Amino acid sequence: MNYHNILVSTEPPIAIVTLNRPKVLNALNSELMAELVEALEALDQDQAIHCLVLTGNEKAFAAGADIGEMAEAGAVEMMQRNNIARWDRIMRVSKPMIAAVSGYALGGGCELALLCDLILASETARFGQPEINIGVIPGAGGTQRLARTLGKYKTMELVLTGRTMTAQEAESVGLVNRVVPVELYLEEAKKLALEISQRSPLALKLAKEAVLKAFETSLHDGLDFERKCFYLLFGSEDQKEGMKAFLEKRKAVFKGK
Ligand code: CAA
Repeated sequence: MNYHNILVSTEPPIAIVTLNRPKVLNALNSELMAELVEALEALDQDQAIHCLVLTGNEKAFAAGADIGEMAEAGAVEMMQRNNIARWDRIMRVSKPMIAAVSGYALGGGCELALLCDLILASETARFGQPEINIGVIPGAGGTQRLARTLGKYKTMELVLTGRTMTAQEAESVGLVNRVVPVELYLEEAKKLALEISQRSPLALKLAKEAVLKAFETSLHDGLDFERKCFYLLFGSEDQKEGMKAFLEKRKAVFKGK
């Protein structure tokens, strides 16, 4: 597939998807988002790939939705376009996704990072929801996912003032897994993706689903779901191999079966 706004590189068992509209700080227009969703879904189907890294460039992960594309639109047109519905398809990607963020992750850019399962940031990363400065509010999950991550007060501050957070602040409030020097952020994200990829892909898929369930359900239902996933994995060859390898004091070789 030929993409114009993203780059896709596969280094099995990992894949790197790079947002690639550098002249506009990777502003997320509808063409880019359509390509991104298609690429992520294709990689999700690719059995050779176990973990995905989503990144931008040193200056910008993404500076938000493309303002030029929506500035003149009316409410009805925005509803009819319903571009944000595409984002739900990213939510359904079953493999672990790591955001490797450097520079701006603002508005939709921050929301895209929040859709990932881990966020690794360069020291120059800046996170924020500045939509309030242009007369709107976050539209792709910012108010909901930030509130679930940071709690009410920090989220209110970010959403109501539009101010940005440094990478260090983001790490201190639990938005970022790790902050690394700018020259290392992609390498470190790839290393982390490789480390995750050594695990059973079946267990990874269910682990991701179970953790995400915690944000959607009661504790009782979440525990029930977790337990069923745990039992289900005993139907896999990977569980037999993983436990046998432990007992034999060797490294497990998982096959995703
Ligand atoms: N949409 C469209 N174009 C954008 C953009 C965006 N979100 N962000 C940056 N650009 C463009 C600029 O227009 C500029 O283009 P030209 O060179 O053609 O003028 C180019 O990228 C470089 O940007 P700046 O000159 O502004 O760079 P800077 O270093 O001075 O400032 C910045 C960087 C602070 C990130 C600033 O660009 C900025 O504030 N961008 C907008 C951030 C924003 O408001 N994001 C939220 C968008 S709405 C949203 O995302 C809704 C949602 O929830 C889905």
